[in-house]
Amino acid sequence: MKKVDVVLGLQWGDEGKGKVVDVLTPNYTVVARFQGGPNAGHSLHFGDKSFVLRTVPSGIFRDGSVNIIGNGVVVDPVSLTEELRNIAEQGIPVKEKLFISKKAHIILPTHRMLDAASEAAKGKSKIGSTLKGIGPTYMDKTGRNGLRFGDVLAPNFVDRYNKLKSKHEEMLSQYAGFEYDVTEYEKTWMEGIEYLKGFRFIDSEHEVNEMIKQDVAILAEGAQGSLLDVDFGTYPFVTSSNTVCAGVCTGLGVAPTKIGDVYGIFKAYCTRVGSGPFPTELFDEVGEELRRIGHEFGAVTGRPRRCGWLDLVALKYAVMVDGVTQLIMMKSDVMNDFETIKVATAYKIGGEVVDHFPYEVTDDLEPVYTEFPGWKCDICKVRRYEDFPQEFKNYVEFIEAETGVPVKIISVGPDREETIVR
Ligand code: GDP
Ligand code: IMO
Ligand code: MG
Repeated sequence: MKKVDVVLGLQWGDEGKGKVVDVLTPNYTVVARFQGGPNAGHSLHFGDKSFVLRTVPSGIFRDGSVNIIGNGVVVDPVSLTEELRNIAEQGIPVKEKLFISKKAHIILPTHRMLDAASEAAKGKSKIGSTLKGIGPTYMDKTGRNGLRFGDVLAPNFVDRYNKLKSKHEEMLSQYAGFEYDVTEYEKTWMEGIEYLKGFRFIDSEHEVNEMIKQDVAILAEGAQGSLLDVDFGTYPFVTSSNTVCAGVCTGLGVAPTKIGDVYGIFKAYCTRVGSGPFPTELFDEVGEELRRIGHEFGAVTGRPRRCGWLDLVALKYAVMVDGVTQLIMMKSDVMNDFETIKVATAYKIGGEVVDHFPYEVTDDLEPVYTEFPGWKCDICKVRRYEDFPQEFKNYVEFIEAETGVPVKIISVGPDREETIVR
Protein backbone atom coordinates (compact mmCIF):
# COMPACT_ATOMS: atom_id res chain seq x y z
CA MET A 1 0.00 0.00 0.00
CA LYS A 2 1.30 3.46 -0.87
CA LYS A 3 -0.18 6.41 0.99
CA VAL A 4 -1.44 9.56 -0.71
CA ASP A 5 0.81 12.62 -0.32
CA VAL A 6 -0.80 16.04 -0.16
CA VAL A 7 0.13 19.56 -1.28
CA LEU A 8 -1.72 22.34 0.56
CA GLY A 9 -1.61 26.13 0.69
CA LEU A 10 -1.23 27.27 4.31
CA GLN A 11 -2.20 30.92 3.89
CA TRP A 12 -4.92 32.69 1.86
CA GLY A 13 -4.17 30.99 -1.44
CA ASP A 14 -1.71 31.73 -4.28
CA GLU A 15 1.21 30.34 -2.30
CA GLY A 16 2.64 28.68 -5.42
CA LYS A 17 0.87 25.30 -5.31
CA GLY A 18 0.88 24.96 -9.11
CA LYS A 19 4.65 25.32 -9.31
CA VAL A 20 5.25 22.90 -6.45
CA VAL A 21 2.94 20.22 -7.89
CA ASP A 22 4.66 20.59 -11.25
CA VAL A 23 8.07 20.23 -9.58
CA LEU A 24 6.99 17.20 -7.53
CA THR A 25 5.14 15.29 -10.28
CA PRO A 26 8.19 13.34 -11.56
CA ASN A 27 7.84 11.43 -8.25
CA TYR A 28 4.14 10.69 -8.79
CA THR A 29 2.02 8.90 -11.38
CA VAL A 30 -1.27 10.48 -10.38
CA VAL A 31 -2.19 14.06 -9.47
CA ALA A 32 -5.70 14.61 -8.09
CA ARG A 33 -7.62 17.75 -7.22
CA PHE A 34 -9.95 17.21 -4.26
CA GLN A 35 -11.83 20.51 -3.73
CA GLY A 36 -12.48 23.98 -5.09
CA GLY A 37 -13.04 24.75 -8.73
CA PRO A 38 -12.23 27.49 -11.20
CA ASN A 39 -11.81 30.01 -8.37
CA ALA A 40 -8.28 28.55 -8.29
CA GLY A 41 -5.54 29.82 -10.57
CA HIS A 42 -2.37 27.73 -10.42
CA SER A 43 0.52 29.12 -12.47
CA LEU A 44 3.19 26.96 -14.07
CA HIS A 45 6.34 28.19 -15.81
CA PHE A 46 8.79 25.98 -17.64
CA GLY A 47 11.17 27.12 -20.32
CA ASP A 48 9.40 29.85 -22.29
CA LYS A 49 5.93 28.50 -21.50
CA SER A 50 3.42 29.76 -18.92
CA PHE A 51 0.02 28.36 -18.00
CA VAL A 52 -2.67 29.14 -15.46
CA LEU A 53 -4.66 26.04 -14.50
CA ARG A 54 -8.02 26.36 -12.79
CA THR A 55 -9.63 22.96 -12.57
CA VAL A 56 -7.09 20.73 -14.31
CA PRO A 57 -4.52 19.22 -11.91
CA SER A 58 -1.03 20.69 -12.26
CA GLY A 59 0.46 17.32 -13.29
CA ILE A 60 -1.07 17.46 -16.76
CA PHE A 61 2.12 18.59 -18.54
CA ARG A 62 4.31 15.78 -17.24
CA ASP A 63 4.72 12.71 -19.47
CA GLY A 64 2.92 9.63 -18.28
CA SER A 65 0.94 11.41 -15.54
CA VAL A 66 -2.69 10.58 -14.78
CA ASN A 67 -4.81 13.50 -13.57
CA ILE A 68 -8.04 13.20 -11.63
CA ILE A 69 -10.72 15.77 -10.87
CA GLY A 70 -12.08 14.35 -7.62
CA ASN A 71 -15.64 14.23 -6.26
CA GLY A 72 -14.98 17.20 -3.97
CA VAL A 73 -14.33 19.55 -6.89
CA VAL A 74 -17.01 21.74 -8.51
CA VAL A 75 -16.60 21.94 -12.28
CA ASP A 76 -17.61 24.63 -14.74
CA PRO A 77 -17.97 22.97 -18.18
CA VAL A 78 -17.18 26.25 -19.97
CA SER A 79 -14.03 27.01 -18.05
CA LEU A 80 -12.82 23.38 -18.08
CA THR A 81 -13.40 23.02 -21.82
CA GLU A 82 -11.48 26.19 -22.55
CA GLU A 83 -8.65 25.06 -20.31
CA LEU A 84 -8.45 21.60 -21.88
CA ARG A 85 -8.53 22.93 -25.44
CA ASN A 86 -5.59 25.23 -24.63
CA ILE A 87 -3.64 22.35 -23.14
CA ALA A 88 -4.49 20.05 -26.08
CA GLU A 89 -3.03 22.69 -28.44
CA GLN A 90 0.33 21.98 -26.81
CA GLY A 91 0.14 18.41 -28.07
CA ILE A 92 -0.90 16.99 -24.68
CA PRO A 93 -3.31 14.03 -25.12
CA VAL A 94 -5.79 15.38 -22.57
CA LYS A 95 -8.45 12.71 -23.14
CA GLU A 96 -5.97 9.99 -22.16
CA LYS A 97 -4.58 11.90 -19.18
CA LEU A 98 -7.58 13.43 -17.44
CA PHE A 99 -10.42 11.67 -15.65
CA ILE A 100 -13.43 13.27 -13.99
CA SER A 101 -15.19 11.85 -10.94
CA LYS A 102 -18.86 11.05 -11.62
CA LYS A 103 -19.57 12.57 -8.21
CA ALA A 104 -18.02 15.98 -9.00
CA HIS A 105 -20.73 18.65 -8.98
CA ILE A 106 -21.40 20.88 -11.98
CA ILE A 107 -21.45 24.69 -11.89
CA LEU A 108 -24.50 25.95 -13.82
CA PRO A 109 -24.63 29.34 -15.56
CA THR A 110 -27.22 30.41 -12.99
CA HIS A 111 -24.86 29.45 -10.13
CA ARG A 112 -22.57 32.17 -11.41
CA MET A 113 -25.47 34.62 -11.51
CA LEU A 114 -26.43 33.71 -7.94
CA ASP A 115 -22.84 34.33 -6.85
CA ALA A 116 -22.89 37.77 -8.49
CA ALA A 117 -26.33 38.66 -7.08
CA SER A 118 -25.36 37.58 -3.56
CA GLU A 119 -22.14 39.60 -3.65
CA ALA A 120 -23.92 42.68 -5.04
CA ALA A 121 -26.54 42.43 -2.29
CA LYS A 122 -23.85 42.26 0.40
CA GLY A 123 -22.50 45.64 -0.69
CA LYS A 124 -19.59 46.72 1.49
CA SER A 125 -19.50 43.43 3.37
CA LYS A 126 -18.99 41.37 0.21
CA ILE A 127 -16.66 38.37 0.38
CA GLY A 128 -14.70 39.42 -2.69
CA SER A 129 -15.61 36.15 -4.38
CA THR A 130 -14.06 35.25 -7.73
CA LEU A 131 -17.70 35.07 -8.96
CA LYS A 132 -17.20 31.65 -10.51
CA GLY A 133 -20.33 30.24 -8.87
CA ILE A 134 -18.41 28.26 -6.25
CA GLY A 135 -20.54 29.12 -3.19
CA PRO A 136 -23.96 28.52 -4.85
CA THR A 137 -22.77 25.19 -6.33
CA TYR A 138 -21.58 23.89 -2.95
CA MET A 139 -24.87 25.13 -1.45
CA ASP A 140 -26.79 23.00 -3.96
CA LYS A 141 -24.49 20.09 -3.17
CA THR A 142 -25.16 20.20 0.58
CA GLY A 143 -28.79 21.20 -0.06
CA ARG A 144 -29.09 17.98 -2.13
CA ASN A 145 -30.16 19.69 -5.33
CA GLY A 146 -26.96 19.55 -7.36
CA LEU A 147 -26.15 18.00 -10.72
CA ARG A 148 -23.13 15.74 -10.96
CA PHE A 149 -20.98 14.55 -13.87
CA GLY A 150 -22.50 11.10 -13.57
CA ASP A 151 -25.87 12.68 -14.46
CA VAL A 152 -24.61 14.07 -17.76
CA LEU A 153 -25.17 10.80 -19.64
CA ALA A 154 -28.70 10.26 -18.25
CA PRO A 155 -31.51 10.65 -20.82
CA ASN A 156 -33.26 13.21 -18.64
CA PHE A 157 -30.15 15.38 -18.05
CA VAL A 158 -31.53 18.42 -19.86
CA ASP A 159 -34.82 18.19 -17.93
CA ARG A 160 -32.94 18.06 -14.67
CA TYR A 161 -30.82 20.99 -15.77
CA ASN A 162 -33.93 23.03 -16.61
CA LYS A 163 -35.55 22.16 -13.29
CA LEU A 164 -32.55 23.38 -11.31
CA LYS A 165 -32.21 26.44 -13.53
CA SER A 166 -35.87 27.36 -12.87
CA LYS A 167 -35.26 27.07 -9.16
CA HIS A 168 -32.31 29.45 -9.53
CA GLU A 169 -34.37 31.88 -11.60
CA GLU A 170 -36.91 31.96 -8.82
CA MET A 171 -34.15 32.71 -6.32
CA LEU A 172 -32.64 35.38 -8.59
CA SER A 173 -36.00 37.15 -8.85
CA GLN A 174 -35.69 37.88 -5.11
CA TYR A 175 -32.71 40.15 -5.79
CA ALA A 176 -34.39 43.42 -6.74
CA GLY A 177 -32.69 45.16 -9.64
CA PHE A 178 -30.35 42.29 -10.47
CA GLU A 179 -30.44 41.80 -14.23
CA TYR A 180 -28.91 38.95 -16.14
CA ASP A 181 -29.19 36.98 -19.36
CA VAL A 182 -27.62 33.54 -19.65
CA THR A 183 -29.04 32.61 -23.08
CA GLU A 184 -25.76 32.91 -24.99
CA TYR A 185 -23.61 31.60 -22.17
CA GLU A 186 -25.91 28.62 -21.80
CA LYS A 187 -25.17 27.53 -25.38
CA THR A 188 -21.43 27.56 -24.67
CA TRP A 189 -22.15 25.66 -21.46
CA MET A 190 -24.06 22.94 -23.33
CA GLU A 191 -21.22 22.73 -25.88
CA GLY A 192 -18.83 22.31 -22.97
CA ILE A 193 -20.93 19.43 -21.63
CA GLU A 194 -20.82 17.79 -25.09
CA TYR A 195 -17.03 18.23 -25.31
CA LEU A 196 -16.52 16.78 -21.84
CA LYS A 197 -18.58 13.69 -22.75
CA GLY A 198 -15.46 12.67 -24.68
CA PHE A 199 -13.63 12.21 -21.34
CA ARG A 200 -13.79 9.26 -18.95
CA PHE A 201 -16.15 9.82 -16.02
CA ILE A 202 -14.91 7.53 -13.27
CA ASP A 203 -15.86 6.21 -9.84
CA SER A 204 -12.78 7.98 -8.56
CA GLU A 205 -12.96 6.67 -4.98
CA HIS A 206 -12.77 3.09 -6.28
CA GLU A 207 -9.99 3.85 -8.74
CA VAL A 208 -7.95 5.86 -6.23
CA ASN A 209 -8.20 3.15 -3.58
CA GLU A 210 -7.25 0.46 -6.08
CA MET A 211 -4.19 2.54 -7.01
CA ILE A 212 -3.29 2.89 -3.33
CA LYS A 213 -3.43 -0.91 -3.03
CA GLN A 214 -1.24 -1.30 -6.14
CA ASP A 215 1.42 1.08 -4.71
CA VAL A 216 0.77 3.78 -7.30
CA ALA A 217 2.19 7.15 -6.18
CA ILE A 218 -0.62 9.70 -5.82
CA LEU A 219 -0.32 13.42 -5.05
CA ALA A 220 -3.43 15.32 -3.92
CA GLU A 221 -3.33 18.98 -5.04
CA GLY A 222 -5.14 21.51 -2.86
CA ALA A 223 -6.67 24.75 -4.06
CA GLN A 224 -7.03 27.99 -2.07
CA GLY A 225 -5.38 27.94 1.37
CA SER A 226 -6.11 26.80 4.92
CA LEU A 227 -7.11 30.30 6.04
CA LEU A 228 -9.87 30.22 3.38
CA ASP A 229 -11.27 26.91 4.69
CA VAL A 230 -15.02 27.07 5.31
CA ASP A 231 -14.59 25.71 8.88
CA PHE A 232 -11.17 26.95 9.95
CA GLY A 233 -10.62 30.04 7.83
CA THR A 234 -11.50 33.65 8.60
CA TYR A 235 -15.26 33.00 8.29
CA PRO A 236 -17.33 34.36 6.59
CA PHE A 237 -14.50 35.64 4.38
CA VAL A 238 -13.65 32.17 3.13
CA THR A 239 -14.38 29.89 0.22
CA SER A 240 -17.09 27.20 0.41
CA SER A 241 -15.01 24.03 0.65
CA ASN A 242 -12.68 22.33 3.11
CA THR A 243 -9.27 23.37 1.88
CA VAL A 244 -7.49 21.70 4.80
CA CYS A 245 -5.98 18.21 4.71
CA ALA A 246 -9.24 16.57 5.80
CA GLY A 247 -10.67 17.71 2.45
CA VAL A 248 -8.53 15.04 0.76
CA CYS A 249 -10.45 12.34 2.65
CA THR A 250 -13.89 13.61 1.65
CA GLY A 251 -12.88 14.98 -1.75
CA LEU A 252 -11.24 11.80 -3.03
CA GLY A 253 -12.60 9.06 -0.78
CA VAL A 254 -9.24 8.41 0.88
CA ALA A 255 -9.30 7.22 4.50
CA PRO A 256 -7.27 9.27 7.04
CA THR A 257 -5.00 6.25 7.62
CA LYS A 258 -3.98 6.43 3.96
CA ILE A 259 -2.66 9.98 4.03
CA GLY A 260 1.15 10.13 3.77
CA ASP A 261 3.30 13.25 3.62
CA VAL A 262 1.56 16.61 3.92
CA TYR A 263 3.51 19.33 2.12
CA GLY A 264 2.50 22.72 3.48
CA ILE A 265 3.26 25.61 1.15
CA PHE A 266 3.71 29.19 2.32
CA LYS A 267 5.09 32.41 0.91
CA ALA A 268 8.03 33.98 2.75
CA TYR A 269 5.53 36.82 3.33
CA CYS A 270 1.70 36.89 3.13
CA THR A 271 -0.90 37.86 0.57
CA ARG A 272 -4.67 37.87 0.41
CA VAL A 273 -7.07 38.72 -2.40
CA GLY A 274 -10.67 39.66 -1.67
CA SER A 275 -12.08 40.92 1.62
CA GLY A 276 -11.52 39.73 5.17
CA PRO A 277 -9.10 40.05 8.06
CA PHE A 278 -5.36 40.05 7.44
CA PRO A 279 -3.47 40.83 10.67
CA THR A 280 -0.04 41.55 9.14
CA GLU A 281 -1.29 43.52 6.12
CA LEU A 282 0.95 46.45 5.12
CA PHE A 283 -0.53 49.68 3.81
CA ASP A 284 2.83 51.40 3.32
CA GLU A 285 5.53 51.33 0.66
CA VAL A 286 6.82 47.97 1.92
CA GLY A 287 3.45 46.44 0.99
CA GLU A 288 3.69 48.17 -2.39
CA GLU A 289 7.17 46.70 -2.91
CA LEU A 290 5.98 43.19 -2.12
CA ARG A 291 3.14 43.59 -4.63
CA ARG A 292 5.39 45.07 -7.32
CA ILE A 293 8.36 42.72 -7.00
CA GLY A 294 6.20 39.66 -6.33
CA HIS A 295 3.79 40.48 -9.19
CA GLU A 296 0.99 40.05 -6.70
CA PHE A 297 -2.01 40.28 -8.97
CA GLY A 298 -4.64 37.54 -9.11
CA ALA A 299 -4.02 34.80 -11.69
CA VAL A 300 -7.79 34.49 -12.30
CA THR A 301 -9.22 37.97 -11.72
CA GLY A 302 -6.14 40.20 -12.11
CA ARG A 303 -7.08 41.92 -8.83
CA PRO A 304 -4.16 43.38 -6.85
CA ARG A 305 -3.35 41.13 -3.91
CA ARG A 306 -3.08 42.64 -0.43
CA CYS A 307 0.44 42.09 0.93
CA GLY A 308 2.02 41.86 4.37
CA TRP A 309 4.64 40.20 6.57
CA LEU A 310 4.75 36.49 7.31
CA ASP A 311 2.29 35.59 10.08
CA LEU A 312 3.64 32.71 12.15
CA VAL A 313 0.59 32.65 14.44
CA ALA A 314 -1.61 31.90 11.44
CA LEU A 315 0.98 29.57 9.89
CA LYS A 316 1.26 27.49 13.06
CA TYR A 317 -2.54 27.23 13.17
CA ALA A 318 -2.58 25.88 9.60
CA VAL A 319 0.28 23.47 10.35
CA MET A 320 -1.72 22.16 13.31
CA VAL A 321 -5.04 21.69 11.51
CA ASP A 322 -3.38 20.16 8.43
CA GLY A 323 -0.85 17.92 10.16
CA VAL A 324 1.92 19.30 7.94
CA THR A 325 5.00 17.05 7.79
CA GLN A 326 7.19 19.20 5.52
CA LEU A 327 7.16 22.90 4.76
CA ILE A 328 7.83 24.48 1.38
CA MET A 329 8.78 28.17 1.33
CA MET A 330 8.01 30.17 -1.81
CA LYS A 331 8.96 33.53 -3.28
CA SER A 332 11.85 34.18 -0.88
CA ASP A 333 13.54 36.04 -3.76
CA VAL A 334 10.92 38.81 -3.59
CA MET A 335 12.57 40.15 -0.40
CA ASN A 336 16.15 40.10 -1.80
CA ASP A 337 16.63 43.85 -1.36
CA PHE A 338 14.86 44.32 1.96
CA GLU A 339 16.85 45.97 4.74
CA THR A 340 14.68 44.42 7.46
CA ILE A 341 12.20 41.56 7.43
CA LYS A 342 9.49 41.17 10.04
CA VAL A 343 7.56 38.12 11.19
CA ALA A 344 4.51 38.12 13.46
CA THR A 345 5.12 35.72 16.34
CA ALA A 346 2.15 36.68 18.53
CA TYR A 347 -0.86 39.01 18.60
CA LYS A 348 -1.74 41.66 21.13
CA ILE A 349 -5.49 41.58 21.63
CA GLY A 350 -6.93 44.21 23.95
CA GLY A 351 -3.51 44.64 25.55
CA GLU A 352 -3.04 40.91 26.16
CA VAL A 353 -0.40 38.92 24.24
CA VAL A 354 -1.77 35.73 22.71
CA ASP A 355 0.05 33.14 20.61
CA HIS A 356 -2.92 31.33 19.08
CA PHE A 357 -5.11 32.19 16.10
CA PRO A 358 -8.31 33.64 17.62
CA TYR A 359 -11.98 32.86 16.87
CA GLU A 360 -12.31 36.25 15.25
CA VAL A 361 -9.73 38.77 14.09
CA THR A 362 -10.94 42.01 15.67
CA ASP A 363 -9.94 45.61 15.04
CA ASP A 364 -7.98 45.80 18.28
CA LEU A 365 -5.68 42.96 17.21
CA GLU A 366 -2.08 44.05 16.75
CA PRO A 367 0.71 41.76 15.55
CA VAL A 368 3.84 41.42 17.68
CA TYR A 369 6.84 41.28 15.36
CA THR A 370 10.30 39.74 15.49
CA GLU A 371 12.73 41.50 13.15
CA PHE A 372 15.45 40.00 10.98
CA PRO A 373 18.20 41.74 9.04
CA GLY A 374 17.63 41.17 5.29
CA TRP A 375 20.08 39.12 3.19
CA LYS A 376 20.43 41.98 0.69
CA CYS A 377 21.60 39.91 -2.28
CA ASP A 378 20.15 38.02 -5.21
CA ILE A 379 19.36 34.44 -4.17
CA CYS A 380 17.69 33.44 -7.47
CA LYS A 381 20.76 31.59 -8.73
CA VAL A 382 21.29 29.60 -5.52
CA ARG A 383 20.70 25.85 -6.01
CA ARG A 384 22.11 24.35 -2.78
CA TYR A 385 21.03 25.28 0.76
CA GLU A 386 24.67 25.64 1.85
CA ASP A 387 25.08 28.49 -0.63
CA PHE A 388 22.38 30.74 0.88
CA PRO A 389 23.59 33.77 2.88
CA GLN A 390 23.56 33.30 6.65
CA GLU A 391 20.80 35.92 7.12
CA PHE A 392 18.55 33.86 4.87
CA LYS A 393 19.36 30.62 6.71
CA ASN A 394 18.56 32.37 10.01
CA TYR A 395 15.11 33.25 8.65
CA VAL A 396 14.42 29.68 7.49
CA GLU A 397 15.69 28.12 10.68
CA PHE A 398 13.61 30.47 12.83
CA ILE A 399 10.48 29.35 10.97
CA GLU A 400 11.46 25.71 11.47
CA ALA A 401 12.02 26.24 15.19
CA GLU A 402 8.68 28.07 15.63
CA THR A 403 6.59 25.57 13.65
CA GLY A 404 8.50 22.44 14.60
CA VAL A 405 8.41 21.32 10.94
CA PRO A 406 11.38 21.18 8.54
CA VAL A 407 11.46 23.47 5.50
CA LYS A 408 12.29 20.86 2.87
CA ILE A 409 11.93 22.86 -0.33
CA ILE A 410 12.74 26.51 -1.04
CA SER A 411 11.62 28.29 -4.19
CA VAL A 412 13.58 31.29 -5.44
CA GLY A 413 11.76 32.00 -8.71
CA PRO A 414 8.74 30.96 -10.75
CA ASP A 415 10.57 28.47 -12.99
CA ARG A 416 10.74 24.72 -12.32
CA GLU A 417 14.52 25.02 -12.12
CA GLU A 418 14.48 27.74 -9.44
CA THR A 419 13.92 25.23 -6.65
CA ILE A 420 16.16 23.98 -3.85
CA VAL A 421 15.38 20.61 -2.31
CA ARG A 422 17.16 19.98 0.98
P1 GDP B 1 -1.16 28.96 -6.61
O1 GDP B 1 -2.57 29.41 -6.77
O2 GDP B 1 -0.86 28.55 -5.21
O3 GDP B 1 -0.74 27.91 -7.60
O4 GDP B 1 -0.26 30.25 -6.89
P2 GDP B 1 -0.45 31.32 -8.08
O5 GDP B 1 -0.02 30.68 -9.35
O6 GDP B 1 -1.79 31.92 -8.05
O7 GDP B 1 0.52 32.47 -7.61
C1 GDP B 1 1.87 32.25 -7.40
C2 GDP B 1 2.67 33.17 -8.33
O8 GDP B 1 4.00 33.24 -7.91
C3 GDP B 1 2.73 32.68 -9.75
O9 GDP B 1 2.74 33.77 -10.62
C4 GDP B 1 4.04 31.92 -9.81
O10 GDP B 1 4.59 31.87 -11.10
C5 GDP B 1 4.89 32.76 -8.91
N1 GDP B 1 5.94 32.04 -8.19
C6 GDP B 1 5.90 30.79 -7.67
N2 GDP B 1 7.03 30.54 -6.97
C7 GDP B 1 7.77 31.65 -7.02
C8 GDP B 1 9.02 32.02 -6.46
O11 GDP B 1 9.66 31.27 -5.74
N3 GDP B 1 9.46 33.29 -6.73
C9 GDP B 1 8.77 34.17 -7.50
N4 GDP B 1 9.29 35.36 -7.69
N5 GDP B 1 7.59 33.84 -8.04
C10 GDP B 1 7.09 32.61 -7.79
P1 IMO C 1 -5.74 29.40 -5.51
O1 IMO C 1 -6.02 27.93 -5.63
C1 IMO C 1 -6.62 33.19 -3.59
C2 IMO C 1 -10.76 33.89 -2.37
C3 IMO C 1 -11.52 34.97 -3.11
C4 IMO C 1 -12.49 35.40 -2.03
C5 IMO C 1 -12.81 34.10 -1.31
C6 IMO C 1 -14.09 33.44 -1.79
O2 IMO C 1 -5.27 30.01 -6.78
O3 IMO C 1 -4.83 29.65 -4.37
P2 IMO C 1 -14.89 32.17 -3.97
O4 IMO C 1 -14.69 32.48 -5.44
O5 IMO C 1 -14.30 30.87 -3.57
O6 IMO C 1 -16.30 32.34 -3.55
O7 IMO C 1 -14.07 33.32 -3.20
O8 IMO C 1 -11.71 33.24 -1.55
N1 IMO C 1 -10.15 32.85 -3.24
C7 IMO C 1 -8.85 32.77 -3.51
N2 IMO C 1 -7.84 33.57 -3.16
N3 IMO C 1 -6.38 32.07 -4.28
C8 IMO C 1 -7.38 31.24 -4.63
O9 IMO C 1 -7.17 30.05 -5.23
C9 IMO C 1 -8.70 31.59 -4.28
N4 IMO C 1 -9.92 31.02 -4.46
C10 IMO C 1 -10.80 31.80 -3.81
O10 IMO C 1 -10.67 36.00 -3.52
O11 IMO C 1 -11.84 36.24 -1.13
MG1 MG D 1 -3.67 31.09 -7.46
